Amino acid sequence: MASRPTVVRTLPVLRRALKPYRQASARVALVPTMGALHRGHLALVEEARRRARRVVVSIFVNPAQFAPHEDFASYPRGLATDLKTLRTAKADLIWAPSTEAMYPQGFATRIEPEGAAKAGLEDKFRPHFFGGVATVVAKLFTQVSPDFALFGEKDYQQLRVITQMAKDLDLAVSVVGVPTVRENDGLALSSRNAYLSAAERAVAPTLHRVLRTSAGRIKKGTPVETVLQEGRSEIAQAGFALDYLEARHALTLDPLASRKDGPMRLLVAARIGKTRLIDNIAV
Ligand code: PAJ
Repeated sequence: MASRPTVVRTLPVLRRALKPYRQASARVALVPTMGALHRGHLALVEEARRRARRVVVSIFVNPAQFAPHEDFASYPRGLATDLKTLRTAKADLIWAPSTEAMYPQGFATRIEPEGAAKAGLEDKFRPHFFGGVATVVAKLFTQVSPDFALFGEKDYQQLRVITQMAKDLDLAVSVVGVPTVRENDGLALSSRNAYLSAAERAVAPTLHRVLRTSAGRIKKGTPVETVLQEGRSEIAQAGFALDYLEARHALTLDPLASRKDGPMRLLVAARIGKTRLIDNIAV
């Protein structure tokens, strides 16, 4: 149909658009995004299409997850391009509410996740972040009532927080993680890569390279703390300001000293120029 995907901007219209899906007993998958779509987002849409007959993509730059000094105002926005991309990707419905539709005047409730949300990783540098994410994702889950919701492993702590939230709140949605999509040189695709200068872009793959070599050395038996120390200095030497490079339990995100103590994930965040990049890898 030429008009696909349908774009809806208010809750009553969203409910009307979802009704036929339910009446046809179609499984519904939701892909929450903030737009500026790239191949990473499209991998989520593809996985959504594999799991469900109807795919809803939300596009909402969520003010609640940005601190005042962060890049909410300058965050890349390009709805027209995103819609073209989603037409090609065969999404069925685009839920693109205004800020007022999502947070009407008088809005006064916030979800405050704990556990993985307090792991001392992203939360340490962006203390407001997971409260904002959990609040908007809980609303998106309630609004769309999906059978599946797809999230990227790229934002690994976010994936863990949302998985736990869905469980804790008894939400009838399966949260599915999708592997990180990368450039050929290993850099994880991110809407924020658009901020990188040519020189910064050239060193940006250092993060993934360090993650890979570190995971390899840990697997071969080098002590975790030695590997992390050396990885941290390599990242700093490449010109990054390092926020963290940590080895954590892949599910709880608790500190993990050895692979014997559980499945391990390495997580990194570092700033280059004005851009903050994050990445992670399984060990
Ligand atoms: P956004 O940064 O737009 O990302 C939307 C989804 O795409 C997230 O699940 C993210 O992990 C995934 N994603 C981003 N880059 C990816 C890559 N290179 N490979 C695979 N998946 C990737 O994350 C958010 O928006 C917001 O916090 C949101 C969940 C929408 C709540 O506002």
